[in-house]
Amino acid sequence: MSAIPAPMIPLTNGTRGETVNIPQLGFGTYKVPPADTQRIVEEALEVGYRHIDTAEMYGNEAGVGKAIASAGIPRDQLFITSKLNNAFHDPKAAHKAFDDTMTALGIDVLDLFLVHWPMAKTTSLEATWTAMVDILGSGRVRAVGVSNYQPDHLRTIINATGVTPAVNQIEVHPYLTQEPLRELDKELGIVTEAWSPLARGVVLSDPTIDRIAGELSRTASQVVLRWHIQRGDVVFPKSMHRARMEENAKIFDFELTDGQMAEITALNRNERQGSHPDEVQGVK
Ligand SMILES: NC(=O)c1ccc[n+]([C@@H]2O[C@H](COP(=O)([O-])OP(=O)(O)OC[C@H]3O[C@@H](n4cnc5c(N)ncnc54)[C@H](OP(=O)(O)O)[C@@H]3O)[C@@H](O)[C@H]2O)c1
Repeated sequence: MSAIPAPMIPLTNGTRGETVNIPQLGFGTYKVPPADTQRIVEEALEVGYRHIDTAEMYGNEAGVGKAIASAGIPRDQLFITSKLNNAFHDPKAAHKAFDDTMTALGIDVLDLFLVHWPMAKTTSLEATWTAMVDILGSGRVRAVGVSNYQPDHLRTIINATGVTPAVNQIEVHPYLTQEPLRELDKELGIVTEAWSPLARGVVLSDPTIDRIAGELSRTASQVVLRWHIQRGDVVFPKSMHRARMEENAKIFDFELTDGQMAEITALNRNERQGSHPDEVQGVK
């Protein structure tokens, strides 16, 4: 199947001077078991996804690499993200972890490498970010960014290095709309990536979302993903089912009205599905 017609969002920070374009819709791989990853990612690529989000923490980078190799899609038409795991924040360990990620993926150049979680209690944020900037300078990654960073974390690394992350990947969905942090990202020129965009399925039975889906003859998942797209965030829903991969990709032929957008945004309860960054930062 041809590529999903997802808009491309330019990353201008955390690159080596070039603009790096990221497809606004990608495919997530958290909890995709290593043994199934090659098959599942091959299916996602067949459906038309061209942006894959993985991490050393997920244990499935090698499966992603095998799927990329077998799919036969030109490398420059794919966008691959991976992440630095929590135990490797020391600069020397970070360089080795990046090498290991590249070996597991089997590629020469990665598109985006992120610090997975801020680990301020174990390693200075500045030291880890300086290592990320050095990795960017090596030419083996096109852009570097962070994940789960709070305002003080962002300010600390930008002040220390003068290099602003390309993206901040944070939990965002209708029950956790993250307005202040998204605003700060925007102000700093950082693209927000919304992880768990479907709140791991929890928002799909919300009555308001269900009613809007009925009004538009769409599914709840399509309505939620469309809400993210119209807010300008990058998303990568995960699914083990091909029919859902296809469903989640059909979101570029309809629009939510301003009223529907506002109704969904008003569902915010500041309710997380995953950890708060403050709970993670000392835990390896
Ligand atoms: N940076 C971080 O710290 C961080 C943390 C968490 C996630 N992430 C990234 O974000 C990606 C997405 O987040 P996520 O995987 O946590 O959650 P998610 O994408 O919000 O939700 C995935 C769940 O929703 C179900 N689902 C997917 N499409 C559906 C549909 N159309 N209808 C009904 N159910 C559907 C999936 O079930 P099936 O698989 O059974 O279809 C799965 O249980 C991850 O895979 C990962 O790449 C990053």
